[in-house]
Parts: sequence; C-alpha cells; structure tokens
Amino acid sequence: MPGLAIVGAQWGDEGKGKITDLLAERADAVVRFQGGNNAGHTIVRGGEEFKFHLIPSGILHSDTLCLIGNGVVVDPKVMTEEIEGLRRRGIDTGRLRISANAHVIMPYHLLLDQAGEAKLGELQIGTTRRGIGPCYADKSARLGIRMQDLLDEKILKQKIYAAMEPKRLTLRPFEKDPALDLQTMTEEYRTLGHRLESYIADTQRIIWDALDNERLVVFEGAQGALLDIDHGTYPFVTSSNPTAGAACVGAGVGPKDIEEVWGITKAYSTRVGSGPFASELDDDVGDRLRVAGNEFGTTTGRARRCGWLDLVGLRYAARINGLTALAITKLDVLTGIDPIRVAVRYSGPDGASFDEFPYHQSILHKAVGEYIELPGWQEDISGARRLEDLPSAARDYLDLIAANVGVPVVLVGVGPARDEVIWTQADTLVHSIAA
Ligand code: IMP
Repeated sequence: MPGLAIVGAQWGDEGKGKITDLLAERADAVVRFQGGNNAGHTIVRGGEEFKFHLIPSGILHSDTLCLIGNGVVVDPKVMTEEIEGLRRRGIDTGRLRISANAHVIMPYHLLLDQAGEAKLGELQIGTTRRGIGPCYADKSARLGIRMQDLLDEKILKQKIYAAMEPKRLTLRPFEKDPALDLQTMTEEYRTLGHRLESYIADTQRIIWDALDNERLVVFEGAQGALLDIDHGTYPFVTSSNPTAGAACVGAGVGPKDIEEVWGITKAYSTRVGSGPFASELDDDVGDRLRVAGNEFGTTTGRARRCGWLDLVGLRYAARINGLTALAITKLDVLTGIDPIRVAVRYSGPDGASFDEFPYHQSILHKAVGEYIELPGWQEDISGARRLEDLPSAARDYLDLIAANVGVPVVLVGVGPARDEVIWTQADTLVHSIAA
C-alpha cells in the first residue's frame, strides 16, 4: 500500500489532526516530517478532548506506529510531557519512535526566538515562540544537537558549547539565566535523553519496512502551504517546508513512495500571526466565523484572523503540493451565513487582476480578493453523512471549490466529532484499504 501525505492547504489549523486520526486506524504508521511543537492538533474522541503538539495523531490507535521523522524539531521537555500526559490517561505510547537524527530545540533557541521577535517590534512575524526558527537555523549552520546526541554526555557537552559560542553576544542579556549554564544544560538534556532513550530509533527503516510490506503509511504535515519557507508568504512563514515534497526529505523516503497527497482546507480561511491575507474579514462576519469555528490557537491561544475561502491560494497549494484530493473541514461553520463569498482572483495595488498567486511581495502584501457570491443555507448540516443529505447550496459550494481548484473533494467535515464527516467517494483509496 502506498504512502499518503496529509498537508495543510492554507496557513495551518485546517483540521489535519482529525483527518489523520481517521486515516490512522487504517494505517500501519503515521509519520510527522517537519515542524515541531509550534503545531497543535485537537482530537475529540468519545467526548474526550486530546491535544497534541508533537506526537502524531495516530497515537490513539493501539495498532498504529507513530513516528517523529528526522525533519521534525523536537523539544524534549514537551515530548516527555506529552508522553507522560498520555500515560496518565491510560494510553500506550509503546508504538512511538523518534528519529535519532531529529534536531533538538534547546533553551537558547527559545530565548533567541523571543529576543528575535522583540527586536523586530512592529515587523515581528508573530512566531509561536517555541524556538522553531533558531533550531532550524542551527541545523542549517551545522550547529544542531540531534536526538542521538542526548545519549552521550561528552558529545552533548561539546556540541552545546559549539552551538552557544557564536551566540554569546545575542544571548548576553540572558547570561545569568541558569538554564544556559553549560554544565547544567548538559546534565538536564542528558537526563531527558535518558528518559526518551527507548523511543529513539532509526525511523526511516521502520517506514521502509511498512512500505515494502504494502502497508499504508500516512505522512502527517504540520502548518500549511502558505507558511512554507520557500513557497509561502515569506518572511511571514514558518522555518520548514510544510509541503508534500518535504515528506520525502523529512521522513527518508523517495517521491515514488508517496502516491496520494491530500490537501486539507477549511471551508473558509484563517491565519495566525502577521503577514498578507487577501480575503481577510475585519467585520462582523469575521467575528462570527471566529466564534462559530472556535478559531483560537491550540498552541498559543491567540485569536485567529478569519476570512473568506481563497481559491487563488488553494489553487497554488494544489500545484506546489501536487494534490490528488481535497478534504474540506468545518463546512458547518458557514451555516447561517448568507450570502457566502469566495475569492476567485486577487486585485493588486494598481488595480490589475491576478488569477495566480503573486510571487512579488509588493503585490502580494497589498492584494485583496475579488469575490463571487453564492447563496448560503440555514439548515443544521451536522447530521449529514452523504452528499445528498446536504442542502443544495452547500453542495454547490463544494462543487465550485472542486471545479475551480481542479482537485476532487474526498471528505467534508460537518462537525468537530470524529464521525461528523461525509466521505464523498466510496471508491477512494482509504475505502479500498478498509474493504
Ligand atoms: P514559528 O513556526 O513558531 O516560527 O512561527 C512562524 C509563523 O507560523 C507564525 O505566523 C505562526 O503563527 C505560524 N505558525 C506556526 N505553526 C503554526 C500552526 O501550527 N498553525 C498555524 N500557524 C502556525
């Protein structure tokens, strides 16, 4: 069975966790391949709510391997807390493995993230302040600490020293912080390494075995296409590639191992942090979406910026990811909004119209959506389980998205619970797996 990548098609928070959770019960393995605990997934299961930042969503399934790939940046304190939290709730974490090559978020990364944002002032990116950017920067500078380094005190100490040395000047305001003392840090992270040792593994080999044995492997992306460091709204992006190509690099497989790429999008748009957002709503409808959709961050609790669905961005996300399917979440949040607007093009600052996502920052930062209007619906759709159960206005909305983006819709979310979904195609890959 092939690899299937789940990626965010907007700015993150599209509900990837729920979709991954649905697929995980049919998968042998779920693999995270980029990002770190800047991500946050909420999964509602049997009335109980679970929040994850690092651990793949598949952990609630007792038969699914959950892997943290080499492309992820791991904060070992958060990792141990999540493991402990799951254990306390009686959930077995024995199927969790962390790549020995995954990079480690260190205390100085957190301080540098905060200091960097403070320095930028009004120009700040609005990062999650989890140390993600500084950790990836050290990885590229070849000054990173990897999970395997936590298992050897001598190597760990040497590497921490080498990583801290070039940062002395920037870290000077924190030099009295005991967390930055070389010996204390080495001991603390060696202890964390000891606690995580049984989870540290050669994860790519586990993935190859599953793929070679015709098992389904789900590659779970974090964030979304428009936060991609190469393809997103730079510099208002995250420090990794949340697009499908990164699943290969961040997990250790080749492009041919991934047959399906599902893009997850909400039925409207949201964004956390700064940066351009052409279809943003700064009005009552935006407020209504925020409340109805509970658009407050899982990781930082920040209110999310809300807006209409942006098909320019979605077509771009489809192209850079090679999407084979779309999953549209939170369609129920649009109930009662009439009319519904959808951005199909952008207007640039000089009035020019753009069908394609503009590459030029001066245009992108000032672009606003050009909309078409569709009738809304008033009916409660949370009980719909087949497309035919939806009001025709809701079906028309889905048809417009699929036709405009040129990618079929395989799944529609109509409520937060696991079963509040419509599978639109009985012959999809997942149904064939389940059969
Ligand atoms: P960082 O990833 O913490 O460096 O933050 C960079 C940008 O990505 C900021 O605008 C964050 O709000 C955004 N971001 C990072 N992770 C997520 C996520 O999981 N969902 C939504 N936005 C995110």
